[in-house]
Amino acid sequence: MRKKIVAANWKMYGSRAMAKSLCTAIVAANPTHCDVLICPPDPYLSDVADLCGVAGVGVGGQNLSEHIEPGAYTGEVSAAMLADCGAHWVLVGHSERRHYHAESNELVARKFAAALAGGLTPVLCVGEKLAQRQAGETDAVIADQVGAVLDICGIGAFEAGMIAYEPVWAIGTGHAATPQQVQHVHAFIRSQLEKEDARIARLTRLLYGGSVKAANAAELFAQPDVDGGLIGGASLVASDFLEICAAAR
Ligand code: 13P
Repeated sequence: MRKKIVAANWKMYGSRAMAKSLCTAIVAANPTHCDVLICPPDPYLSDVADLCGVAGVGVGGQNLSEHIEPGAYTGEVSAAMLADCGAHWVLVGHSERRHYHAESNELVARKFAAALAGGLTPVLCVGEKLAQRQAGETDAVIADQVGAVLDICGIGAFEAGMIAYEPVWAIGTGHAATPQQVQHVHAFIRSQLEKEDARIARLTRLLYGGSVKAANAAELFAQPDVDGGLIGGASLVASDFLEICAAAR
């Protein structure tokens, strides 16, 4: 069976000191039964890459510019710059980017393309809001979010990529989606990819994110279409994160 992947999204939390102590603890624990990916704030990327890269822990950015070429885009960071600081991965379309920074499906798809062009592997984040779930629109929302990337980049773009299903109502709320809800959406995403290419659909790793903690991780990870997790709050405490890694067998 393929290894699961446990990814940490530190969001805008931490410090250089915290980055160092978290990475040191993760490397010391050496969780080899699962793949580990850490997505720190950009200023800490090089530190994290130096500390973790040698131990086989993946490093990723949390966002990138849709512009591929260097240019006068104050405050933006390109895929090439993330790669230059040691990143191999990048989150694209996290719900906090979609909602606080008005990133549309189309912009997210362009960022996905820019990541690939810059040599990074994108992790496409998708998820519905509570009102959309209550209105029975979950599958349609997810289909549009994934479909925008398929339209611009094609199914081949998922050859190495990952998709993280993160229902907005589950992020940071302490209320994770149920294993059944997660499995339903993951199977739906896989079937959407399958229509384009069955092999790539099988290979694409589908992560769940939203209030994952040690207590619920094993049951979520046991779902047939769940290949790992994208962890926010619980990734900021080494022991919590490592317990989640231990559940990813
Ligand atoms: P929490 O684990 O804090 O709910 O955050 C999930 C998330 O947004 C990871 O990208």
